[in-house]
Amino acid sequence: MSLFGSVNRMVTITINKNQYLAEEGEIFLLTALRLNIDIPHLCYEKALEPYGACRLCMVDVVTCGKTTMTPACTIKVHNGLEILTDTPEIIKHRRLLFELYLAEAPKSEVIREMAAKYGVTKTRFLKKIVHDDPLFGKCILCGLCVRVCNEIMGTSAINFINRGPYTVINTPFFEHNPDCAGCAACAQVCPTKAIVFEDSDAERIMQSWSGTAVPLATCSSCKKSYAPEKLMDKVLDKLDPAIIEELRTLCPECRRKYITRMEIGRIPRS
Ligand code: SF4
Ligand code: FES
Repeated sequence: MSLFGSVNRMVTITINKNQYLAEEGEIFLLTALRLNIDIPHLCYEKALEPYGACRLCMVDVVTCGKTTMTPACTIKVHNGLEILTDTPEIIKHRRLLFELYLAEAPKSEVIREMAAKYGVTKTRFLKKIVHDDPLFGKCILCGLCVRVCNEIMGTSAINFINRGPYTVINTPFFEHNPDCAGCAACAQVCPTKAIVFEDSDAERIMQSWSGTAVPLATCSSCKKSYAPEKLMDKVLDKLDPAIIEELRTLCPECRRKYITRMEIGRIPRS
């Protein structure tokens, strides 16, 4: 889609020797998935600039008869684009990566299921050392959680810690981080579902992030807790100040009812 929501120019591309019409400028991975051409992928997230971290979505781009392996999430569709998605080399590459990911994240059901589709159920690689890492065995270090926290939420509550085989993701020094808004966007984007949190009556506990606890806002009308206070402050700060005060203390459900009542009140009676 272009700005203003209109559809971009349609162009002709070739995938596995078949021709298709596709939207110019679209990320090729999305085009292929829409055409039901399966390309495994872990680190692509629409809200973020693709950065080709997981290397799982590699395909061959054919140019003048020569092929170049490229992550499908970094290719933009253009007229005449020619791609091979399932050559023996590509399949071999994916199987090898799945072995590596099985070693890295043996507890991840997502990884196990994806690998099994390629017949990979065991790995020849050694698991890395455990360091009391709460994400151990589930995290593939794709970095999406770090990026969404930093680039979308503007927070940087978590980051990569250590180097090489000791690298993990967590809060600085594995301590509670007051910068964390408890938005859980990290858990939302995590492709292996490694990040866990729990809501109690009054708090959200980010169990994966050193148990960082964030107070939840309570609705002044129904008295239920509904979202982290810090997150609500961030969201409400972006709204028109004139309506903030009335809406600030209401949960989404009560807010909807309040707005509907206001709208009904405005409809002139005949
Ligand atoms: S916790 Fe999830 S999103 Fe974060 S680096 Fe690990 S796999 Fe990626
Ligand atoms: S989804 Fe393309 S490299 Fe990860």
